[in-house]
Amino acid sequence: MRVHVADHPLITHKLTVLRDKRTPSPVFRQLTEELVTLLAYEATRAVRVEDVEIQTPVTTTVGVRIADPKPLVVPILRAGLGMLEGMVKLLPTAEVGFLGMARNEETFEPTTYAERLPEDLSDRQCFVLDPMLATGGSLGAAIDFLFARGAQDVTAICILGAPEGVAAIEKQVGDRDVTLVLGSLDERLNEKGYIVPGLGDAGDRLYGTV
Ligand code: URA
Repeated sequence: MRVHVADHPLITHKLTVLRDKRTPSPVFRQLTEELVTLLAYEATRAVRVEDVEIQTPVTTTVGVRIADPKPLVVPILRAGLGMLEGMVKLLPTAEVGFLGMARNEETFEPTTYAERLPEDLSDRQCFVLDPMLATGGSLGAAIDFLFARGAQDVTAICILGAPEGVAAIEKQVGDRDVTLVLGSLDERLNEKGYIVPGLGDAGDRLYGTV
């Protein structure tokens, strides 16, 4: 598994405002979108392209375009939805699928409560959006789900990650082709499963407490 932690002052600046508990939801949503667009630039470094011949006003030349089948972007509901606009801004031809993951309160296992994805993901490059990589339970389950459908490779974009979550995903994916792109690798998880220093509950901060 490859892990890329962003190292750019613009990203750190925006993250600092995002972490601040006084930042209101509209600003939080806007910043999340902007951060994802910046992270998407790194996350799409290995997106598959094919040659295409075009005419410039001056001559004929060969460039590239994103190859078929188009990449699939998969936000994990609910908080991953707040990342979607920022991602498709950079990858407008991507298809979008949805995965709703929740923790079963008896078994503590992540379960899939909603799913809208193509049946066959053979040869598809998949980009999973999940803002907070905490224990890694839901992201790990989403990655397994996509590979079970035949995905070629999976890149997960997370605004923040905890070392515990990164280690859990690393152990789970083995030698499958997975890349993690993080805005920041934070210190740890606290006893309630929150990332420290973190930003609190990403879903609540995006959408209010419901
Ligand atoms: N999910 C969140 O929204 N925040 C955390 O800190 C951990 C998981």
